[in-house]
Amino acid sequence: MSARIVRRLLPALVLALLVPLNAAAETDPDTGFVIGPGWETVKNNCTACHSAKLVTQNAGSRNRWQYIIRWMQETQGLWQFPAETEKVILDYLAEHYGPKKGARRPPLPPSMLPDNPYKKKEAGADAG
Ligand code: HEC
Repeated sequence: MSARIVRRLLPALVLALLVPLNAAAETDPDTGFVIGPGWETVKNNCTACHSAKLVTQNAGSRNRWQYIIRWMQETQGLWQFPAETEKVILDYLAEHYGPKKGARRPPLPPSMLPDNPYKKKEAGADAG
């Protein structure tokens, strides 16, 4: 390509590169967290033990996130949060890493399922 053609095409090329970047939400280059209210609180509290990817690759309702946090608190040494901090974290996670849209339908409630012939005893229903 001659320099002249490149110069003429450059604005279109730059646009083609920038538009998709712009369309996506802005993310923190360090962690990949979507930048929005509360993201720094999440970054400060959720990347000490494992990669931020473990967080950003997960998705779930607010309830599911709370369940995961409780699980880490009970079994993995995650510290307790002041109520306000936990609210900030859950608001952020539910907003930016909520249930995947267009994914599979939610599971049927147990009342709509046939009896499981392999089930030995009543299992408690998990949250999430
Ligand atoms: C004190 C250490 C610690 C901190 C801090 C921590 N986690 Fe974890 N987390 C763990 C451990 C340990 C695992 C299990 C990792 C594995 O299975 O390899 C885990 C797993 C996870 C998983 C995967 C759960 C699954 O179902 O597979 C998610 C999601 C997660 N953490 C999110 C978070 C979020 C959000 C925060 C901040 C509120 C956080 N973690 C802070 C220790 C921690």
